Amino acid sequence: MNTELDPGGYNVAGHKALVIGAGSAIAKALISAMGQQHSVDHIIAVSRSSSEPGSETEVIGSVPVSYVTCDYSSAAISALAAQLSGPFSHVFICTGVLHNDHIKPEKRLEDIDEGQMAELLRINSILPALWLQALLPTIKSSSRCVFTVFSARVGSIGDNFKGGWYSYRASKAALNMVIKTAAIEYARRAPRVKLLAFHPGTVDTDLSRPFHKSVPADKLFSPEFVAQQLLSITAALPVDGEASFLDWAGETITW
Ligand SMILES: NC(=O)c1ccc[n+]([C@@H]2O[C@H](COP(=O)([O-])OP(=O)(O)OC[C@H]3O[C@@H](n4cnc5c(N)ncnc54)[C@H](OP(=O)(O)O)[C@@H]3O)[C@@H](O)[C@H]2O)c1
Repeated sequence: MNTELDPGGYNVAGHKALVIGAGSAIAKALISAMGQQHSVDHIIAVSRSSSEPGSETEVIGSVPVSYVTCDYSSAAISALAAQLSGPFSHVFICTGVLHNDHIKPEKRLEDIDEGQMAELLRINSILPALWLQALLPTIKSSSRCVFTVFSARVGSIGDNFKGGWYSYRASKAALNMVIKTAAIEYARRAPRVKLLAFHPGTVDTDLSRPFHKSVPADKLFSPEFVAQQLLSITAALPVDGEASFLDWAGETITW
């Protein structure tokens, strides 16, 4: 395993993982699991603010993890992607918002707010599309790469029986369409890259915290459990030129 950092600080030879949204609880568990298992040679962890103040690189297991900040503007995404060099075996887009200090999931039509819906569409659908666009030149020559984007079962149009959560559902459904569409283009331009829309289940993170009361204890997963499931799923996933929409158990979800 080559762990020599290049002068740019986050390009080394060997298989790399790129984790976007490294502040997410699930992303942290993924980084930790990949480091402990040494399943990659280098991890590049991108977030809006560095999760490791004062240290741009740390070693987990024996794997260097480089922390990079990005404000997720279109220009910053392009600039960062242009600085990366492969080969990448894993890309994870872990960003996603369901609620924040000024957004609450809608219960009924009267709750819809134009600005809040636009914000969730930007974060949950447009940002991953920008990463799919910007990373194509970097990852197209990787020998095998699984590009996982965190979606959600509630983004399934076919599986929507409960209603509610208009903005989050719409933003994840739009994300799924971006992934399906990109997979058609990636099959031509980056045939060794597999696109995966992933539903982690209900995971014990800030995102799901307001809704834990209604979740049975055995259905509330730890980030560590889901990270392990996802790594097993991506290791076994065939690179078949199509997008898959899978849950934490590796089961297919209807689009
Ligand atoms: N937890 C669940 O039960 C559950 C269920 C279904 C699907 N998911 C999906 O799984 C993914 C990870 O969720 P999580 O539970 O780990 O969430 P989390 O711990 O709350 O992490 C939130 C993530 O969203 C990013 N983010 C937050 N505000 C943002 C903003 N204004 N602009 C851009 N990015 C922003 C953060 O980026 P930084 O790292 O840059 O801070 C971080 O990566 C999300 O896509 C979520 O929709 C989660």
